[in-house]
Amino acid sequence: MTDTAGTATSVFDLDVPVLGPEVLELSRAEATDHLRALASEHWIVRNLMGFVILDYDDVTKILRDKRWHNAVAKIPEMMGITDPAILNRPPSILAAEGDVHTRLRRLVAKAFSPRSADRLRPFMREVVNELIDPVAATGRADIAVDICEPYPIPIICELFGAPQEDLQLFSDWATDIFRIFNNNLAEDKAAIIRAQDELDTYIGDLIERRRSTPSDDLISAMIQAESDGDRLSHAELVMMCEAVLMAGTDTTRNQLGCSLSLFAAHPEQWKLLADQPELAPRAVEETMRFFGTVRGTVRFASEDIEYRDVVFPAGTFIGLSLAQANRDPSIFDGPAEFDITRDPPDKPQLTFGSGIHYCLGAALARAEQQEALTIMAKRLPDLELAGEIVWKPSTVRIFGPEHLPVRFTPT
Ligand code: HEM
Repeated sequence: MTDTAGTATSVFDLDVPVLGPEVLELSRAEATDHLRALASEHWIVRNLMGFVILDYDDVTKILRDKRWHNAVAKIPEMMGITDPAILNRPPSILAAEGDVHTRLRRLVAKAFSPRSADRLRPFMREVVNELIDPVAATGRADIAVDICEPYPIPIICELFGAPQEDLQLFSDWATDIFRIFNNNLAEDKAAIIRAQDELDTYIGDLIERRRSTPSDDLISAMIQAESDGDRLSHAELVMMCEAVLMAGTDTTRNQLGCSLSLFAAHPEQWKLLADQPELAPRAVEETMRFFGTVRGTVRFASEDIEYRDVVFPAGTFIGLSLAQANRDPSIFDGPAEFDITRDPPDKPQLTFGSGIHYCLGAALARAEQQEALTIMAKRLPDLELAGEIVWKPSTVRIFGPEHLPVRFTPT
């Protein structure tokens, strides 16, 4: 796309549809359909913050282009947060770029391997079974509250080698730190800072204990991780643990909630999974493709970037719609159909992202989803909706059901 002088057009001069505030009034399903209709004609649309990219190939190409930086680093600034107690924290791995990021990923990669995740599968099964036990006899549950919400915390405790008695502490810290996204900083600031300080101290102590007495856990693995004589510093170890707690909790519980809401609406698929548990890995990819909890992510141009003959000036914000890319008909046959027997596509579903920030916990997350869905399908094979699902606000970054009432034959 060039002008008469042969220079590439600025993205700000493109004539593309604009997503106005009215989109925020739509339900998630309506918004997905609306964007899909736009995506059939446009690879890019404009929104209130910048632009949104809709096609699978464009989304993956941009996520793999290191000139686009993760806008997570800019979230506090974008939310008008100026408080140094919140701003001046060591940057998270999600906000790191370039050599700094490459080094961190190199040092921690082994600790997050599929093999490390598999070691926790028996524990995951124990957790799911213990959460199902009290509701199984009643024949009714609010699955979002009774199962999805508590599920990830004991697993994170086990991953860190922290005692299960401290489970409530982790749950409260995660809840309080997430208040940063509540748009109510004046009221929440004290709780956020207190939670961050307490977590720093707790993790710092745990690291010191693991240095003297290594164990079979993530913290010990990260302490021992070494590459060419290089190791993570104490501050980096604390940052990694906090990133895992923050990135691995709400995502896991909400993805499970999204997936279960989908199965509740497709009982024949749930029955298939109950009868053929070997379908679990495919079921997880398909639920995440069809209804991922992370609908998109955000990048900004670290320099002027030319892409598809369009110039994105340095600083331009773009949203990458993972949800739309996951419904791209040029990649997925019949994308609007939910089918857990679907042949694995050549290209992966994108709910774990792509490129250098691809989810570090993907192996663990896959194991968590596979174990939970397999056991629930086996123990609650005739699960069906027993009321209206109450959804989280459609604006939240990690979306899912707040309440998911179901009934099933008591056992
Ligand atoms: C179903 C559950 C999960 C989903 C859908 C998910 C999704 C994602 C996505 C989309 C990203 C990339 C974000 C971006 O590019 O802006 C990401 C990054 C990350 N995730 Fe996950 N995640 C899940 C579970 C987990 C778990 C269980 C852990 C930890 C054990 C984890 C740790 C991380 C970390 C540390 C990053 C940052 C990686 C980096 O910047 O290099 N995630 N996740």
